[in-house]
Amino acid sequence: MNLVLMGLPGAGKGTQAEKIVQKYGIPHISTGDMFRAAIKDETELGLQAKSFMDKGELVPDEVTIGIVRERLSKGDCKKGFLLDGFPRTVAQAEALEDILTHLDKKINYVINIDVDNGILMERLTGRRICKDCGATYHLVFNPPAKDGVCDRCSGELYQRADDNEATVKNRLDVNIKQTKPLLDFYETKGYLRNIDGQQEIDKVFADVDQLLEGLQ
Ligand code: AP5
Ligand code: ZN
Repeated sequence: MNLVLMGLPGAGKGTQAEKIVQKYGIPHISTGDMFRAAIKDETELGLQAKSFMDKGELVPDEVTIGIVRERLSKGDCKKGFLLDGFPRTVAQAEALEDILTHLDKKINYVINIDVDNGILMERLTGRRICKDCGATYHLVFNPPAKDGVCDRCSGELYQRADDNEATVKNRLDVNIKQTKPLLDFYETKGYLRNIDGQQEIDKVFADVDQLLEGLQ
């Protein structure tokens, strides 16, 4: 299955992606995760991405499209893929169509996790992530059993550099502006499926899963 997961920052893309890839065994391709890994490794790509991410701006299309093109051509994507956080602009969506045509693939669904803008600040500033296994928590909505410690692997929890209030505000402004034309693009193509992202995490997944079971 070839899937795209859309949603504003904090909508729950990463949270749902983890569940989807666990159940369906397809590779999780998150451009945000790829950039953060490059920053950690201090690569050329990381250097390029960091200045944009720190401000909550989008990394330029050429850079982002390039890393997705390379990733989708890898062998493990033959069985399918879950794109998370890409595309984010119409230019990226058009490039993706081109990449997939060359690979003789088609998107099954673009799943849009729909939430009210007003709740996203709280979701993002309260997010904590495990340093070791990447599991995502929330101080209020999905707290770990023990403060600051991952339930799964006992790793230490940290806050993402761009989850401070000022950067979140800009991320939301930037992404809200880009989203409507992208939703229209996929609506016209007939790929778009909206999921109510304001339900509990497991209920959101139940709705996503119901959609995906139809593809099996
Ligand atoms: P990226 O890493 O993709 O971040 P984002 O889009 O801002 O999304 P997030 O990861 O912040 O949120 P999410 O939707 O995954 O939410 P989560 O599940 O964690 O991108 C970061 C940066 O990289 C961008 O700003 C840009 O600079 C660059 N970039 C990446 N892709 C790019 C592209 N294509 N083009 C250009 N630049 C790009 O959930 C959030 C919190 O809410 C968690 O604490 C979670 O526990 C909680 N939560 C989740 N679901 C629920 C629920 N149903 N109820 C209650 N709480 C919930
Ligand atoms: Zn962990």
